[in-house]
Amino acid sequence: MINDEPAFGVYIHWPFCLSKCPYCDFNSHVRREPIDEARFARAFATEIAATAARVPGRTVSSIFFGGGTPSLMQPETIAAVLDAIARRWSVAAGAEITLEANPTSVEATRFRGYRAAGVNRVSLGVQALDDRALAELGRMHSAREALDAVGVARAVFGRYSFDLIYARPGQTPEQWAGELARALDEAGEHLSLYQLTVEPDTPFAALHKAGKLKTPDDDAARALYDTTQEISAARGLPAYEISNHARPGGECRHNLVYWRGHEYAGIGPGAHGRLNIGRLDSGGERHATATEKRPETWLMRVEARGDGLISDDVLTREEIGDEFLLMGLRLAEGIDLARYAGVSGRTLDPERIAALREHGLIETTADGRLRVTLPGFPVLDAVVADLAA
Ligand SMILES: C[S@@+](CC[C@H](N)C(=O)[O-])C[C@H]1O[C@@H](n2cnc3c(N)ncnc32)[C@H](O)[C@@H]1O
Ligand code: SF4
Repeated sequence: MINDEPAFGVYIHWPFCLSKCPYCDFNSHVRREPIDEARFARAFATEIAATAARVPGRTVSSIFFGGGTPSLMQPETIAAVLDAIARRWSVAAGAEITLEANPTSVEATRFRGYRAAGVNRVSLGVQALDDRALAELGRMHSAREALDAVGVARAVFGRYSFDLIYARPGQTPEQWAGELARALDEAGEHLSLYQLTVEPDTPFAALHKAGKLKTPDDDAARALYDTTQEISAARGLPAYEISNHARPGGECRHNLVYWRGHEYAGIGPGAHGRLNIGRLDSGGERHATATEKRPETWLMRVEARGDGLISDDVLTREEIGDEFLLMGLRLAEGIDLARYAGVSGRTLDPERIAALREHGLIETTADGRLRVTLPGFPVLDAVVADLAA
């Protein structure tokens, strides 16, 4: 259901992993020494208090523990962070509380502890259901182990999702169709299906440059994308965002906060936030916040100053509008043009809308929302750039 009512999400970043996957450019770090979780929990609480002092009185609609690998955290650490959030804001009854987990057997043993701490949704990084592909992706789990972890997630949490990466080297539409069908057999209400991106400065980027990692060309990637849309929609999990699929009502409410342009606090090393100080439609400011990325430096900064902020910028009306388009047009539901006008102080050029509509890249829904069509999604960036120009 489309809901543009204000929402407030809290994102908590756990920046550690057991090993670094060669395709990943998330803010994740491998440490030999044990992590002092109690010290991190205190720093998270300090940063939560500092953020709540700036945006007091909010009702938290969702909380998301992302990483890195939050499933390496002890359940007591999760409980301490949830307690800190509840002390500074009120948490809505039925708030969605998600934790990202790596699908290993060790991590699955902690699921009940997370549930007892208050987590009610997990998102598992399965990545592939093929052992050779998992080894090539540098993953530490087998397909069997991942599916077992999915089984534990199903039994312990009301809601669960898992991620797959497709458009992997050498992957054919037939192979992907089979793997996706298998994944859909195991899916609950939500699946994230990401095309492999070769991120700069990763081991995969070096291999790619040396010609040792061949990713599908544009046509092949497009065929894989089309296969993804067809199969998942036919099985009841259509895309509600470019890479995210859900049964109606099973969408990730936290990620919808980002895509619908609402407000969120970013807590922990390298976390981003968007805080509305005052009402945007009556002279208020929207702040883009970012914290120090290196975990130990973040920790010392929070202990010394009360927060880990390295930037806190007031966005211009134009920047707010551009971000609203960029995020909102990722969604199948599209954007409400009156809301766009309210946050950006502008209206979109009707001639540009008409031209893009003519090319079949965007459409207006019966209730007046603007959305990108299925053929428009693969060229979304160009569509947004054109509308925002
Ligand atoms: C923050 S990561 C991870 C959660 C968890 N650490 C894991 O790996 O299972 C979130 C998801 O982003 C996706 N991802 C990360 N790097 C990617 C890349 N280069 N291309 C496509 N998807 C990627 C993976 O599917 C991953 O599960
Ligand atoms: S994909 Fe997940 S486990 Fe791998 S390095 Fe990135 S955050 Fe860590």
